[in-house]
Amino acid sequence: MSQLSMEAAQAHEKLVNEGYLLIPHKIPAEAIDEGMAEYAAFTDGLPDPSLDTMARMIINPDNLDELDFSQDQESEWHKYRTNHPQFAKPGGYTNRSLQTAALRYSERFVTDKNTGLLVPPEDDPKEYYHFHPNAISLPRMEEMRERYGWSPIPPEVLKLHAKFSNIHALARQAIIRVFAQLEELYPELTSQFATQEDLFGSPIRILQYHPGQGDLLAGGHTDKGLATIQIAESHVGFRMREPSNTVEDAAERYKADPLHDPDMELIRRSEDQGVFFISEAFRNEAAYPDTELTPLWHDVVNIDELNEKRAIHGKNCARWAIIFFTNSPKAGLVTKNRTHTEITA
Ligand SMILES: [Fe+2]
Repeated sequence: MSQLSMEAAQAHEKLVNEGYLLIPHKIPAEAIDEGMAEYAAFTDGLPDPSLDTMARMIINPDNLDELDFSQDQESEWHKYRTNHPQFAKPGGYTNRSLQTAALRYSERFVTDKNTGLLVPPEDDPKEYYHFHPNAISLPRMEEMRERYGWSPIPPEVLKLHAKFSNIHALARQAIIRVFAQLEELYPELTSQFATQEDLFGSPIRILQYHPGQGDLLAGGHTDKGLATIQIAESHVGFRMREPSNTVEDAAERYKADPLHDPDMELIRRSEDQGVFFISEAFRNEAAYPDTELTPLWHDVVNIDELNEKRAIHGKNCARWAIIFFTNSPKAGLVTKNRTHTEITA
């Protein structure tokens, strides 16, 4: 690497030392606000499937993303009909609160990760929508609608997709700007691992937390894809740990008292900045296993303080976030275990 540009070298050094970059995402605050208002109209205006249907759709209580759509014989169109198979995670709508309630309703248990025993599922009060560009997701929704004889896709879905189409396009451009710099150090990053096609297959997660959450909204973890951009959040509360602190002691400290862990730093930023960081698949064997970059360990705590230019919309939303996950079939998947277990230096 003879002619490494100053900018690329600086960006890389910052990622190595601090674990993240603040990058301009160029998505206007108004576009984000309109998008979230449209999401509220979608989620408040359209029904969920009944608990009975949801329970019958869940194939495996330990993997709520595996659904049997042939079990959905409801006469009314509902939000789970936006859900469709996709690389890594399903596209469309997922509601963990509803799924947990359905498992409880049908008296089905899940496996406790520590003991291996079957236990009632714990509520996970959130819902999210994995948005993919319309060319990807709308034909899949149509295909399923035809296969199962469901009624037409309602206008709320099409309006939501109209709003997020541009947000996804701007997010793709933002990630390409960073990857183009990193490509000086990581050959073939945009030509092989994050191609245009891969970025179309990468979701924006529209995440809505429901009221009644505890103090810790998302426990510490690293993300599974190649890299992530936290584009926007309604509230302050996104925290991270510097890569140099990723040692055994840090894991113990976090486990003992995550809320007061002195290593966890709150990231504050203006509304035009996203937080870019590396995720697990980046260092997969098939990608860049020798990289100096570490996937960012982060969590979300419940702080009652709105970020600038952000607002809450709808009836069941305590907080929201918009996140872009870069998926790379060529880099491959990572197992959940690796992203929730501390990685020690
Ligand atoms: Fe995350």
